[in-house]
Amino acid sequence: MDDGITIRPLREADAEAVVELYAKAAAVEPRLGPVTLPQWDQFLKLPQNRGGRDFRVAERDGVLVGLAESSLRDQGAHHTRFLKIVVAPEMRRRRIGLALFDEVLAIDADADLTVQTLVSSDWPAGMAFVAAFGFVHVESEIGMKCVEPLQPARTLAAARATIEQVSDVTACAGEVARIHNAAYASDAAFRLYSREEMAQVLTESEVWIASEDGQMSGFCLTELERNSMWIESVAVDPVRQGRGLGQLLVYRVLAAHDVSVEHPCWLNVSSRNAPALKIYRRLGFRPQHETCRFSAPRGDLLAARGRRFQ
Ligand SMILES: CC(C)(COP(=O)(O)OP(=O)(O)OC[C@H]1O[C@@H](n2cnc3c(N)ncnc32)[C@H](O)[C@@H]1OP(=O)(O)O)[C@@H](O)C(=O)NCCC(=O)NCCS
Repeated sequence: MDDGITIRPLREADAEAVVELYAKAAAVEPRLGPVTLPQWDQFLKLPQNRGGRDFRVAERDGVLVGLAESSLRDQGAHHTRFLKIVVAPEMRRRRIGLALFDEVLAIDADADLTVQTLVSSDWPAGMAFVAAFGFVHVESEIGMKCVEPLQPARTLAAARATIEQVSDVTACAGEVARIHNAAYASDAAFRLYSREEMAQVLTESEVWIASEDGQMSGFCLTELERNSMWIESVAVDPVRQGRGLGQLLVYRVLAAHDVSVEHPCWLNVSSRNAPALKIYRRLGFRPQHETCRFSAPRGDLLAARGRRFQ
């Protein structure tokens, strides 16, 4: 590595330099950014990121030239460490990415800990980087876009359900966390949420719920941008799935926001989630891009690193 490089923990004062780094990287890898200052603040506040406690930065002559975002996610039965490294385009192939990777892997001690990272299929440097460490492609996140919502067939359960946007998000946080924890339990990106943590997430979203006989059956969280919107999460209680509720919930949300070519709706869905992919297609969503999820046990990564790099 370049001798002038230092790796250190992220500081609050790095925020503007991080925004700048993302702007430069996004010019090379579209969809890596840009990230605005408020978005970065919000990202650091997510419960799993713990204010960026496990994030590291690479600095050269006082200038931030690389960033490793990392968080340890509680997945119930085990933990997974998430990792994303970004190096300034003009500073690449100097082993800065490698140094950030080493620092993040040094945070834990368990060789069996799973390490995951997401790389878009159109970021060639990122794909080559993860291949160098022997990461395995386990699934993909499919980015889907809807410009013309298609009305789903109405089922009996859907006809009886109440769908509404909630204003008191704190009051429903416990039920949303319970459904989230049950519905996403087998997901590669799963993270267990407490009621308090979910309450914090909900304050940043628009929250829609489907209920039957006063009982919450499912929820949909959206994030609004200037000319588009995102469905961040949609889940139906596993014991109430397969009855048309999820489709109707999403359709109602799309209709409430007048989704169109000028105001599209986006979402990400796992390539391994065939039922969800089918439902989104039926609602008018079409696949646009693929982000690959790579995974490997920490011990395997350390071994591959030792073999390949001195
Ligand atoms: C991926 C990224 C972080 C690599 O940073 P970097 O500092 O250039 O990487 P390093 O110099 O430490 O490379 C380590 C090894 O990865 C491989 N590698 C990295 N970039 C590569 C490229 N463009 N082509 C081929 N191999 C590459 C090589 O094996 C390299 O070792 P070598 O130079 O001795 O052959 C950087 O390209 C980046 O920011 N990309 C955009 C974001 C991204 O895709 N992140 C990946 C998610 S973790």
